[in-house]
Amino acid sequence: MSQLIVLGLQWGDEGKGKIVDLLCPAFDVVARYQGGHNAGHTVRFGDRHFALHLIPSGILHEQTRCVLGNGMVINPEAFFSELDDLEASGVEVEGRLFISERAHVLLPLYAAVDQARERQLGEQAIGTTSRGIGPAYENRASRAGIRMCDLRSDDLEARLRPLHARLANELRSAEAEVPSLESLAADCREWAARLEPYVADTGALLQAWMAEGKGALFEGAQGALLDLDHGTYPFVTSSNSTAGGACTGTGIPPTAIDGVMGVLKAYTSRVGGGPFVTELEDETGEFLRRRGNEFGTTTGRPRRCGWLDLVASRYACRLNGVASIALTKLDVLDELAEIPVCVGYRIDDQVTCEMPARSEDLERAEPVYEVLPGWQEETAGALEFDDLPERARRYVQYVEERLDAAVHIISTGPRREETCLRRDGWLDGILGEGLSRVATAIRG
Ligand code: IMP
Repeated sequence: MSQLIVLGLQWGDEGKGKIVDLLCPAFDVVARYQGGHNAGHTVRFGDRHFALHLIPSGILHEQTRCVLGNGMVINPEAFFSELDDLEASGVEVEGRLFISERAHVLLPLYAAVDQARERQLGEQAIGTTSRGIGPAYENRASRAGIRMCDLRSDDLEARLRPLHARLANELRSAEAEVPSLESLAADCREWAARLEPYVADTGALLQAWMAEGKGALFEGAQGALLDLDHGTYPFVTSSNSTAGGACTGTGIPPTAIDGVMGVLKAYTSRVGGGPFVTELEDETGEFLRRRGNEFGTTTGRPRRCGWLDLVASRYACRLNGVASIALTKLDVLDELAEIPVCVGYRIDDQVTCEMPARSEDLERAEPVYEVLPGWQEETAGALEFDDLPERARRYVQYVEERLDAAVHIISTGPRREETCLRRDGWLDGILGEGLSRVATAIRG
């Protein structure tokens, strides 16, 4: 069985949830490697809709084991709330949900710190999800953080003391209530008791499962352009959402990975602040937002929308070694007569096809577009590539040529059966026998 990374090639919200859900039947394990409850997707299960932020959607597949890797920052209260929802719906998680003992605890109080920082930044605010993700990773990097395995330690108070002192300062400046060290320790003990059945050495488990021949899908959260190192800094999240994060964030070696699939939306969206070269602040942007239902799953914020940016996505493909693409929300473009795609950035009269490091340069960049003809026909439900309108096929092929990667999955609606699967040697090799199970999930 293969080990596959699936990640977003833009600024998040590419539709990874549906793609991971589709691929689940071909894998034994789904592992998340970074981020926390800033991520989110809504998944349908029977008659119910779940908004999952921490637990991979693979949990809704009875055979699938789910791992929350060491690279994540986990708010225990958010985790319990998802667990309660799942249990209330009869989803059995026992024995197949694992949290890394090395994952960091995101204290719920970090949210107040996150919000205060954003207020201080004023117009330069990042536009975070206000979940406390940045403060959790800062404390991790400064070695003051508390990990899952520390929650049960005998010297918990001693471990918490430096963190508490730092937190007290931060909370005071945020004019938020400062809890006592004792009450913080009591919360930790309470969480530890409920978390205990799930906390494990997930790196060792993953390696043992792989040695038994099991396959894992490593699910990236957010998107490549929000990566702390490679994204549009400082308008990024605080973790490595790119492929390298899958190894550091789960404890498996790079040599274990067999391939990377990038999820690319047929246009672009972004939530929060930061440069967005192809943004449309007009009625076309509004059309994409409405038709694509571009409102955040985690915060409900309207997403900024614009054309496909092939400079940024080519950069993301190279960065992640993407050989395979899942192109999502193609149907959102169905009615348009013309579809511009960005193939270069004009910065101070120079055209570049490379991604500038400085956000200031991106802010000044003018998009250089190539305009492709729209197909103005419905694409929803096309199961075969040849069922798509000719101009829609041309759009897909254009993306493949520009990104130098094969589009294996084309999604034309939120439902499983609104998916076109394009087999080739690469996909057959990665999914193996699982391919027929994926095809069955699509065709019903
Ligand atoms: P943080 O991750 O909450 O610190 O937010 C940093 C930036 O990442 C902000 O622009 C957020 O809007 C963005 N962001 C974080 N998580 C997601 C996500 O799951 N989808 C899209 N954008 C996200």
